Amino acid sequence: MTSRTILITGANRGIGLTFTEIYAKQNWQVIACCRDLEQSIELRRLAKQLPNITLETLEITNPKQIQNLAYKIMQPIDILLLNAGIKGASQTLSEINAEDMLTVFDTNVVGQLSMIQYFADKVTASYDKQIVVLSSKMGSIDDNRSGGSYSYRASKAALNIVMKSVAIDLAPQGVHVLILHPGWVKTRMNGSDAPLDTFASVSGMINIINNYKNFKSGSFRDYKNQEIPW
Ligand SMILES: NC(=O)c1ccc[n+]([C@@H]2O[C@H](COP(=O)([O-])OP(=O)(O)OC[C@H]3O[C@@H](n4cnc5c(N)ncnc54)[C@H](OP(=O)(O)O)[C@@H]3O)[C@@H](O)[C@H]2O)c1
Repeated sequence: MTSRTILITGANRGIGLTFTEIYAKQNWQVIACCRDLEQSIELRRLAKQLPNITLETLEITNPKQIQNLAYKIMQPIDILLLNAGIKGASQTLSEINAEDMLTVFDTNVVGQLSMIQYFADKVTASYDKQIVVLSSKMGSIDDNRSGGSYSYRASKAALNIVMKSVAIDLAPQGVHVLILHPGWVKTRMNGSDAPLDTFASVSGMINIINNYKNFKSGSFRDYKNQEIPW
């Protein structure tokens, strides 16, 4: 089989950078998207070592940029990996405000959906036909035992229901959707106290992605392959 293509958002650091490195080392064509190429020193270094990484600038809250990228990319996309996300500035009931809620929703929900709208045809035209999104257990209503994190929790719960609809709507085209929780991972988002490094988390998620045919499209799983309650 000829080499396959994965497009990764938020590829410049954290979980996205590790996905980029592992897929590139496995000889995938990796379209690694980041907001600011100039600042993305590690990603640029990696792309110098691994010529199968193509770097693209992409702000997922900017539909025009998404559209331009979708026009520019000619090849089918086997895996659309929607990794970029933000936590939001305010977490508590007294702090939370509309601006923070809307900013987090714009990235974690609307941006992901715009990506799917512009790239669905390229996924449909591919061999694997996968859309994989990084959600969070924080978006599980059933699992919420500690409260707080209003914008992040609400945005990931909204992302989950959006992805469930995408799984249903794109099923006739053979597209398969996975909604993944990476665990609690050491990145800029979640700090150095987190127990997992990005390689352990990403390796677990790639194992699920490789075995996607074993799971119902739209299934919500963690990096250890446990199903997460909605
Ligand atoms: N770390 C964890 O424990 C954990 C747990 C559960 C879920 N997750 C999810 O896993 C995903 C990756 O998280 P991470 O821990 O690797 O976070 P991170 O280190 O903060 O990285 C986030 C990435 O998303 C990019 N990004 C943010 N907003 C964007 C936008 N509007 N357009 C394009 N790119 C944007 C960032 O780019 P810039 O560098 O330009 O800001 C960065 O590359 C997120 O969806 C997160 O919610 C993480």
